[in-house]
Amino acid sequence: MDDAARLLRTGEIEIIGLLPYASNVTLLTKVSDGSDETRAVYKPQRGERPLWDFPDGTLCAREYAAFVVDEALGWGLVPPTVLRDGPAGLGAVQLYVEEDEDFDVREVALTHPDALQRMALLDVVINNADRKAGHLIVDTAGKLWGVDHGVCFHVDEKLRTVIWTYEGEPVPEPLARDLASFVGDETWKTTLEGLLDAYEIEALCRRASLLLRTKRFPNAPVDRYHVPWPPW
Ligand SMILES: Nc1ncnc2c1ncn2[C@@H]1O[C@H](COP(=O)(O)OP(=O)(O)O)[C@@H](O)[C@H]1O
Ligand SMILES: [Mg+2]
Repeated sequence: MDDAARLLRTGEIEIIGLLPYASNVTLLTKVSDGSDETRAVYKPQRGERPLWDFPDGTLCAREYAAFVVDEALGWGLVPPTVLRDGPAGLGAVQLYVEEDEDFDVREVALTHPDALQRMALLDVVINNADRKAGHLIVDTAGKLWGVDHGVCFHVDEKLRTVIWTYEGEPVPEPLARDLASFVGDETWKTTLEGLLDAYEIEALCRRASLLLRTKRFPNAPVDRYHVPWPPW
């Protein structure tokens, strides 16, 4: 994965076209450095649609921050992502994952129970306000990935997700151990300092620590609309 991130960081970006179903400018690109090449999703800061609750121009940094947190947890759920300059200016550049078109995402709780549990916890930790079924991708090698982490890390509780399969259940011990080493690790905090504001980093630590204390997946909020799982 280090190699993928290096290529994304240093390669030349060539825009192929716009991806459908995106609310921000989301470009499919080819990234190459002469010897290696890959497809990537480039989300330039200047193509971000303004939102009432997130500061303008911060979504691309949040995309990268979600990858940093996933890496620090060691969960391998977010495709390698970097924050860099590109043909349309600063943006998030994320490895494009080739979706298995035949995979039915409604089955994912049965086929990928461990990864889906980690995804549910990652969303709590990063306070994901937009985990739709379309943001869960099973690739052609059968691996589950999560994409679209632009609206994460708000200080207010904004968890909006389709993954309520585990609500109220105990967090499995190995995942609790991952959370404990995440909370005790300072290196990711240094990286996030350039990406999020101090209150957002504090809130992130609080959410991870709370999960460690309760050792339970949170319950779905009763005071606002939420989508049950499976999604239909
Ligand atoms: N890394 C990726 N690999 C493959 N497909 C992706 C990736 N990132 C996004 N997509 C696809 O592009 C769509 C739009 O991207 P998304 O990140 O959701 O943009 P937006 O922030 O505008 O909602 C996603 O629903 C998904 O189908
Ligand atoms: Mg989206």
